[in-house]
Order: sequence, then structure tokens, then C-alpha cells
Amino acid sequence: MLTTEMNTTRLIEEVRDEVEAARARGLRVGCVPTMGALHEGHLSLIRRARQECDYVLTTIFVNPTQFGPSEDLSKYPRPLETDLSLCREEQVDLVFHPDESTMYPPGESTVVDVGGLDSIWEGAHRPGHFRGVSTVVAKLFNIVWAHDAYFGQKDYQQQLLIRRMCKDLCLPVRIQTCPIVRDPDGLALSSRNVYLSDEERQSALALSQSLKLAREQLAAGKEPSAVRAAMLEHLNGTSNVAEQYATVADAETLEELDHVRSEMVALVAAKVGSTRLIDNELISLE
Ligand code: PAJ
Repeated sequence: MLTTEMNTTRLIEEVRDEVEAARARGLRVGCVPTMGALHEGHLSLIRRARQECDYVLTTIFVNPTQFGPSEDLSKYPRPLETDLSLCREEQVDLVFHPDESTMYPPGESTVVDVGGLDSIWEGAHRPGHFRGVSTVVAKLFNIVWAHDAYFGQKDYQQQLLIRRMCKDLCLPVRIQTCPIVRDPDGLALSSRNVYLSDEERQSALALSQSLKLAREQLAAGKEPSAVRAAMLEHLNGTSNVAEQYATVADAETLEELDHVRSEMVALVAAKVGSTRLIDNELISLE
């Protein structure tokens, strides 16, 4: 492990020089892409990278292209100084926090589209979202020459899409997916939880509760269609909650299931007040 001070930079060249120097010393390079407003979920990825790699790089960039026109880009939290001190505490070696014009140079006209996975579930509800994600992550991987990149299961479809992109584009980075970090009452941590009022925070528990319901009912032998109905009923029965989707899908393809499979994922998305939240749980039946 390196014991040098953490560096921060907005510059692509500086990232390249640092990573090249680390690689020249034989160090394993781990990258944790984020949009900042770091919480314990992000920190769990950084800690895992710290355990598995010798040189850890975190990127902080609120990527405008993955936000829809009516989404929260302008009010998305950007506590850069706090984020940097959290990274320092976690012994991150380098934080890359580029300007928008660095990631999207004037005249830019290239995008990365991952077919199929980009248009269902999250993709259907947030048109263009995954194009923004795959494009920016491809750029980050071309800037940061990492051995491993760390993503959260929290954004289940996102990590599947990025795995697909890396396979399809032969990108030499290994994708590591880390478990969802939750508050003790079950709410999955999210940078967007800060938007919730106390009452909405309570209502938001309906998401993780509906996943628990799915796990229990599938284990008891119910078919996915009945389980979906129960999830929807639970969400719709909670005040402040407007469900967007709740389903039991194949864990690899995200195809909605009629009959149980060995590896399934229960996915849920809902608006709680005006805040959009997602959650999921992997379910495997013995
Ligand atoms: P962001 O929402 O900041 O999340 C960064 C990473 O942290 C993602 O891989 C996400 O899945 C993970 N994460 C968030 N909440 C988590 C939790 N409760 N437990 C475990 N991991 C969690 O996802 C993005 O940013 C962006 O789309 C990005 C990949 C950076 C591209 O712009």
C-alpha cells in the first residue's frame, strides 16, 4: 500500500501520469467511479478497492448526460470538500474530479450505446440515462487505466450494463460488484436520501419491505407473477409512494419471469414524494 499524501486533480494528463507511474512500479490499480456526495455505500466500494488494490483512484463527476431534462442535475448535492476529506480518510491515492468541458470537449459527438439492457426497467423510465452512464464510464476507463473498477449492486442494472459494455468493447478492466449498504432499518443508502422529509424517509422503507416480501414469498413457493402483485400492493398501499416498477427478473438478462429460476433479482423503483428511489435484492432458491 502507498503511504503518500492523497492527490487531487482535474486534469486527464495528470491521472495518466500517476497511473502509469503506479503501474510501472507493479502496483494494482483500482478505480471507484462516483458522482460524489459520498456516503457509506461509496465508502464500502473504496474500502474494497483499498483491500484488493495497491493504488486506489476515486472519480467524482456529476455527469450531466445521465440526467433527464426534468431530473435533479442542478440540485444534485456537490459537497466536494467533505468528499475529499472522506477520500483522504479512506487512504485514496488520487481523486479525479474533472470539469464538464474535460469530459465533454467542445464539438464532442461520440456516444456509447449498450443495446437491450439500456431500454428496459431503469432505461424505460429514464430515456437516455444509460447512454449517459455508458458513455461517461467508457471515457473514465480510457482515462484511468485500471485493473479493477468497483460498482455497487445498488444500481443493479447499471453494473450489468457496464459489464456488457466491457465485454463488447474488449475493455481490459475487471468489474467488481459490491453489496448494497443499508441503514439499520433497511433503507438503501443513496445520495438522494437527503431530499427526503422525515415522513417520506419512513415511507421510503416500503421499497426494501417489498423486496423482503418478494424473498419470503418466492422462498415459500409463490410464482413471480403473484409476488409482483404483492410487491405492487405493498408499495401502492404506502402513503407518499408512487411505484414505477416492481418485478422479479432473471438476474442476468433482467427478463421478467413467469416461473422461478435459480438466480433471480427483485427490482423496485418508486417516487417517494418527489424523490425517485431504486432498490433490489438478489434471490437464489436452493
Ligand atoms: P453514484 O450514484 O455516485 O454511485 C457511485 C457508485 O456507488 C455506484 O457504483 C453505485 O452503485 C454505488 N452505490 C451507491 N449507493 C450504494 C449503496 N447503498 N451500497 C453500495 N453501493 C452503492 O452510479 C453512479 O454514481 C454513476 O452512474 C456513475 C457510475 C459514477 C457514472 O456517472
